[in-house]
Amino acid sequence: FDSPKPINEPVLSYRKNSEEKKALKEELKNLISQTIKIPLIIGGEEVYTEKQMKCIVPHDKNHVLGYCSVAGEKEADLAIKAAISAKNEWNSLSWNDRQSIFLKAASLLSTKYRAVVNAATMLAQSKTVYQAEIDAVCELCDFLRFNVKYLDQIYASQPLSDEYTWNKSIYRALEGFVLAVSPFNFTSIAANLPAAPAMAGNTVIWKPASASVYSSYYIMKLLIEAGLPPGVINFVPGKGSEIGKRFLTCPNLAGVHFTGSTKVFRGMWKVIGENIDNYKTYPRIVGETGGKDFIFAHSSASIKALVAAMIRGGFEYQGQKCSAASRVYIPESIWFDVKEHLLNETGKIKMGDVEDFSNFMGALIDEEAFIKVTRYIQYAKESNEAKILIGGHWDDGSGYFVEPTVIQTSNPKFITMEEEIFGPVLTVYVYDDKKLEETLKLCDKTSGYALTGAIFSQNPTITALMSKILANAAGNFYINDKPTGAVVGRQPFGGARHSGTNDKAGSMLNMLRWMSPLTVKESF
Ligand code: ALA
Repeated sequence: FDSPKPINEPVLSYRKNSEEKKALKEELKNLISQTIKIPLIIGGEEVYTEKQMKCIVPHDKNHVLGYCSVAGEKEADLAIKAAISAKNEWNSLSWNDRQSIFLKAASLLSTKYRAVVNAATMLAQSKTVYQAEIDAVCELCDFLRFNVKYLDQIYASQPLSDEYTWNKSIYRALEGFVLAVSPFNFTSIAANLPAAPAMAGNTVIWKPASASVYSSYYIMKLLIEAGLPPGVINFVPGKGSEIGKRFLTCPNLAGVHFTGSTKVFRGMWKVIGENIDNYKTYPRIVGETGGKDFIFAHSSASIKALVAAMIRGGFEYQGQKCSAASRVYIPESIWFDVKEHLLNETGKIKMGDVEDFSNFMGALIDEEAFIKVTRYIQYAKESNEAKILIGGHWDDGSGYFVEPTVIQTSNPKFITMEEEIFGPVLTVYVYDDKKLEETLKLCDKTSGYALTGAIFSQNPTITALMSKILANAAGNFYINDKPTGAVVGRQPFGGARHSGTNDKAGSMLNMLRWMSPLTVKESF
């Protein structure tokens, strides 16, 4: 059980004239020039349905990258059958054979597939090259390689035996299938949701988000090329409202691996609750949901580092990260300087097509997101408790563009301080320096989420105080850094309260959720 010690996949620079830049530009052109047909993949077979959905480019919304088949109840049932019938053979493979498929997938991704997976993510999700590279390539390679290592360690963990008894643990897969429901915003998370349970010996039904089905399809192709046997992961794009219940109420449902909205997750949990008498085994429910992530500064903060965190944490990938900074607490004593620097830096942000590598931001994912985000900004414009300091404009002429926007509010419970927006909107509340503790407590109590948070302080006593008061306000807590960009193997990622079950993506804890250990005692 000794796979190579994983290292984090190096992030390439895409500098002028670099090989990787040439290859990526070529692939972007290639994908733009064709319209592909995306099938469901069930039991290794490509299945085309009459009903199709369009895969568009969010920053060039009339451009169609492909048409994807859409699963109905019939295909959902086929997928369940395929997952169940693939199980025995999958389980009979040795761990060595199973792991080599995922390690090979990581190698293919870092080489042959690097450009196409990056290009697909840039176009389908409007991610800049840097954001695509750290997600679709590096984070996904890391998930694949580190999870193999965590499983190695789990499988090697055995109970004590003595001269009269032989004890052992057998780390069986769950009995039944796992349903993986993935989000649009990270190609790596979308892939890890089915891959992690599959690695542990489960068979999986993968329902990718419709908005990013295009990049998910390239991941599916990569896994197949790496040797994933038919039926181990069944690729079933479709509408949750049409096929979700089919999976969730199936007696063979053994687990759910979810990342997405709090509302959808709760809806799924309720369906499982109502159906609890009908399962063969209690389904494992693992979910990463929303966030209302904070940056809290003390007067001793480095203003440069603080502003960089606000810009990068709030606006990278258009703020469409569950971890994105969105509510900010700044003491009066430094607000003048912070504001000047923040407005200056925000004013320099370039937004546009991600094929132009100099743009820092692309477009929002779709019309629904555009409507939601612009409504919040409009609300702030009309409120006498808030003012727009910079940004506040939008344009959906060619794509779903919303300017990076900074709102200042006099009400620490203002709607944009409490609700998840999922867009490039930062709301700042300026607090009285004398009310530090009070404001920290308020920060902890604002919004029911607890995903990420960052504090900025150069005073160790204050850092300790802030860390103590905010100890339950996040699952990933950053000191003097932005609250986004957790790296696999370094900052296991996940939140508590209404942000999820906190089973840390890319960790041993997460891998343990996908197994049902058998303890054997034999007496001599
Ligand atoms: N894992 C992602 C981040 O840390 C969501 O930003």
